[in-house]
Amino acid sequence: MRKQLIVGNWKMYGSHSANAELLSGIAAARPFMADVAVCVPFPYLSETAVALAAHGIHWGAQDCSAHEQGAYTGEVSAAMLAEFGCRYAIVGHSERRTYHAENDPLVADKAKAALARGVTPIVCVGETLAQREAGETEAVVKRQLSAAIHALAHCVGEMVVAYEPVWAIGTGRTATPEQAQAMHALLRAQLRAATPRADDMKILYGGSVKPDNAATLFAQPDIDGGLIGGASLKVADFVAICRAAD
Ligand code: PGA
Repeated sequence: MRKQLIVGNWKMYGSHSANAELLSGIAAARPFMADVAVCVPFPYLSETAVALAAHGIHWGAQDCSAHEQGAYTGEVSAAMLAEFGCRYAIVGHSERRTYHAENDPLVADKAKAALARGVTPIVCVGETLAQREAGETEAVVKRQLSAAIHALAHCVGEMVVAYEPVWAIGTGRTATPEQAQAMHALLRAQLRAATPRADDMKILYGGSVKPDNAATLFAQPDIDGGLIGGASLKVADFVAICRAAD
């Protein structure tokens, strides 16, 4: 059986004092049956590592450069993330695709760069509302995953996939467990065609996961945990979601 994984995506929120409270609250709530991680803004990686190192909770970043190193002002490399003990890097989040014009090949390159340094990429895929209404959901999501599959080649089995319908992110509108399961099953089938390890891979659901809907989502056979935005900033909510995956 696949172990569930709950990942908090703090986005561009945080401060030294808020982080300390949040991280100590999460650490104090251990142990969890699920694997738990938080993906924090780059400047907070160091304090997150210090706060979580002894607690069996992982941490990671919300992006990473596709480049090894060089004159890329503002970028952060996978090697740097590895130096800070990052276990994960989210790549291709819809906010990066939308606000930073990230396309499938770039996202795939980022995933590859992360893996090359031992950082597990959490590759986000998901359709917009317009795409869903136009009946393009499956084609869009398949195309997004396919780019990562091709770039990672024999390492496909090492990535984590996150299905995040864009219309459900930060909107309070969640995919129904049935809608989410249908997409996860589709993604699993696509992974099965690419790697014999597909049944061991984690496919997370993201988009308005809250304490009151987490358990039914995580109970779906192909949903292996969640990528949690807003609710990961409140200790009680995040802990409740982690417990829902127990
Ligand atoms: P949300 O965000 O839980 O606030 O909808 C999820 C995400 O963007 O990863």
